[in-house]
This record gives sequence, structure tokens and C-alpha cells, in this order.
Amino acid sequence: MNSDQYPHLRRLRRSATLRDMLNENRLSASEFIYPLFVVNGSGVRTPIEPMPGIDQMSVDIAVEETLRAAESGVKSVLLFGIPNDKDSTGSGAASPDEAVQRAVAAIKKASPETYVITDVCLCEYTDHGHCGIVAGNDVDNDATLPLLAQAAVSHAQAGADMVAPSAMMDGQVAAIRAGLNEADFSDIPVMGYSAKYASAFYGPFRIAADSAPQFGDRRAYQMAPSQGREAMREVEADLEEGADIIMVKPALAYLDVIKEASMRFDTPLAAYNVSGEYSMIAAAGQAGWIDRERAMMEVLTSIKRAGADLIITYSAIEASKFIARG
Ligand code: PBG
Repeated sequence: MNSDQYPHLRRLRRSATLRDMLNENRLSASEFIYPLFVVNGSGVRTPIEPMPGIDQMSVDIAVEETLRAAESGVKSVLLFGIPNDKDSTGSGAASPDEAVQRAVAAIKKASPETYVITDVCLCEYTDHGHCGIVAGNDVDNDATLPLLAQAAVSHAQAGADMVAPSAMMDGQVAAIRAGLNEADFSDIPVMGYSAKYASAFYGPFRIAADSAPQFGDRRAYQMAPSQGREAMREVEADLEEGADIIMVKPALAYLDVIKEASMRFDTPLAAYNVSGEYSMIAAAGQAGWIDRERAMMEVLTSIKRAGADLIITYSAIEASKFIARG
């Protein structure tokens, strides 16, 4: 075989400088969104066992954590709240005195440049752990919508920059958009958890947020892993309802869905690198079975390569530090 009979792709891989020059997908700290779990009380930092390095934090500590994130270049946080008391309608979700609402205000005060996004859902606030109002064995879609809108408005009143509904109720983006507009928050964007799957990879999050359903599961509202085209319909629905940013969640087992959404739609696309994806790498890293940092960067790069503009990740600070080291 003569060497001019085949393409010489290795020519461009021979030096670190050239590899760097030709990098197609460079991650930057500004595309990461860092999730925080806030609880009531003060001085509280409770480690989340399956997510080494991630803690439940009271508002004061969440403020410190946000400053640490900002220092590493992370510009945005996504807040989840864990209330003291839960009830059947998740009334804590819209309470101005709850941890999330107080955290939003405290973070915006301490770090005005930080872009604060809130997760809008009822599952952390309901005693049954479902994402909406339960009627019989079902979640009542339309009865849930006003409660989600009220929660979103309470976040905006506290100073949130963006709200992100994750309950997978039909019409949730439209209901929240209308609620925000009525309350004079027409400038606050909505990031829809558009294609959210019923995933085993949320396991550690449900421990972190104390939000596991007490009966049944979420398959009557979240999507089945087999569904690719249906995901496009979910995205279209969110766009019709006025979503400013769309999302695919989880990320790793759904890179094809991210890719497809990024090619079909010109709206900015977020991907959620979920708790179970974090835990797997953390656990294998701790066991010495995998190089944790390299695996983390490889996964984040794959999500970007698939077409995500924003990546929600528990690794945001670590990855930003890794990038800054060069
Ligand atoms: C709330 C919500 C969940 C996650 C984000 N928002 C859990 C769920 O739907 O059960 C999961 C995030 C993660 O696993 O990191 N509805």
C-alpha cells in the first residue's frame, strides 16, 4: 500500500499546539449552570451521601457557595428548595418565607452579577412527592398549573432572573408565562425542562431533595427512554407556549436527543447532566477505577459536542477550575 492512497488524519494530531488550535468544542465556565440544594436554618451544610462534594445548604452557606462558584468563573446557579413541612398541595412552593425565595434574595444581594435560576416544581413540597396535585392515583394536570405559576411568581418577586419549570405538566410554560406577565415580570425568561425523561439517573437527586414519590412513579408525566420523536413534540410544545430556552434531561443517555433538538431548533438549548451521571463518575473515581477529572471533562465535552449551549452540572466549579488551569 502506497502512503498517498489514504488520508493522513494523524498529521493534524502530532503536536499539542496544533491539537489545541483545531479544538472544535472548547468548554467555558460561562456555559455552566450550578445547581444548589437550599434548606431552612443557618450554618447548615449537610453532605449528600451519593453525591460527594455536593451538600444541602442553608441560605447563608448557599451564598458562600455561590461566591465560590463565581470566583471560579461560574456565572449562574439553579436553586432547589427543601422545605421543613410538606403538604398535599405543596403550598411551601410559593411561600416567600421558604428557603428558595430567601436564597434568591440573599444571593442577588451578595453577588448581583450571578444569574439566579429557580427550579419550579412541587415534588420537594408535596407530602406524596409527586410533581403536581394528586387526584386518585393520578396527577391532575390542570389543577397543578396555577400552583406552578404562583411558585414561579414568588421566585420572581424574590428577585430570580429566570424560572425553570420541571414538573412535566402540559401547559406549564404557558401558565407560568401568563402568571409572570400578569405580575409585571414579562422580562423574566422561562427555561422549560422540555424533554424530561422518567430516568433512573435522578436517584441521587431524590435523596438530595427528599422528593421521591411515596407511591407509584413519574411515568405518567415524564417521558419513556424509548421516545425520540416525542421529545421533539415536547420541545415544539414548549416553544409554542413561549419557552425562551429549551432543555433535554438527562444528558448522557440522551445525547442523540440533544443533537436532534440542536439541529431542528434555533432556540438556545440546555442539557442537564443529572445527579446519577455525577454519582457514577464520583464513585468510580473514589474507587480508583476511573480518572474522575478526565471522565468529567469528557462527559461535559460530549454534551457540548451534541449541541447544548448551556450545561447544568454539579461539576461546574471543578470543571471551571480545570479549564482555568489550561
Ligand atoms: C424535580 C426535578 C428532578 C430533577 C430536577 N428537577 C427530579 C425528578 O424529576 O424526579 C433531577 C435532577 C437530577 O437528578 O440531578 N421535578
